[in-house]
Amino acid sequence: MKDLVSIRDLGKADVELILEEAAKMEKMLSKKADGLLAGKIVSTMFFEPSTRTNMSFQAAAKRLGAKLMTFYPSISSTAKGESLGDTIRMIDGYVDVIVLRHPYEGAARFAADVAEHPVINAGDGANQHPTQTLLDLYTIKKIKKKIRGLKVSLMGDLKHARTMRSLLFGLGMFGAEITLISPIQLRMDEDIIEETQEKFGATIHQTSEIDLREADVLYVCRIQKERFSDQYEAEKMQKEFRVDLAMLKDANPDLAILHPLPKVDEIPPEVDSDPRAKYFEQAKNGVPVRMAVLYLAAKGR
Ligand code: NCD
Repeated sequence: MKDLVSIRDLGKADVELILEEAAKMEKMLSKKADGLLAGKIVSTMFFEPSTRTNMSFQAAAKRLGAKLMTFYPSISSTAKGESLGDTIRMIDGYVDVIVLRHPYEGAARFAADVAEHPVINAGDGANQHPTQTLLDLYTIKKIKKKIRGLKVSLMGDLKHARTMRSLLFGLGMFGAEITLISPIQLRMDEDIIEETQEKFGATIHQTSEIDLREADVLYVCRIQKERFSDQYEAEKMQKEFRVDLAMLKDANPDLAILHPLPKVDEIPPEVDSDPRAKYFEQAKNGVPVRMAVLYLAAKGR
């Protein structure tokens, strides 16, 4: 693995290898991992806001004993008009791995073509978020002991959320039965659904009704307000499309509720104390999974 730009870059065996490596990383978190990337420098370049992805990549690099260089667009020559290509070329000469988040779809692929060192996509616009998908699959496997045959409902802004686009492919790869729940205006693009169906023979249902009785896993995401042209419309949907405790009453007692976070109005805080809410545990898994990704990329495996 050199770059990790899209979940499509990985075959099932690659994903399994990363998840196995992540399980090892989780076991040796802190002491024994320190040294695995000694002498390496990782650069985080975030051109869009981030809490979990940014901090968990930083934690992962530090746990592996790598040194970190953080790029801040607002106080760099980006603010003077330097192109992304030139910036990437420069940083590529200073470090061993680049972690990039950018608002433009295709930015990570472009950076990977320009850079000689591995580029890890930490989210490119509404397109892809492969390390999120890896940690989502890791979390589902850890909680449910399997993915094949599980009934997984993806709910929210399926049109704009890169987490959902990446995850659909990952779930298809591992044989989950998928239900897509969204307002009609926010349905996932048809070509992405068709690709997953054709490639993996995946079962994918679409609906606007929130019916959680059958689901083993409910994966919710926020309305991606920053990707709407009409902010009023985004706010309206944000208030209307949500899951609360009353709706969870008839749901499976073993349901796992996941969310890439940040959550806004779509899951009210009272759900956090329901034992089925697993999203904070999910976020924590970001560290071992990103340790595995950084380690495999920096070691050129
Ligand atoms: C997601 C993202 O940035 O795509 N957050 C994350 O990385 N955990 C989800 C979101 O912003 O809604």
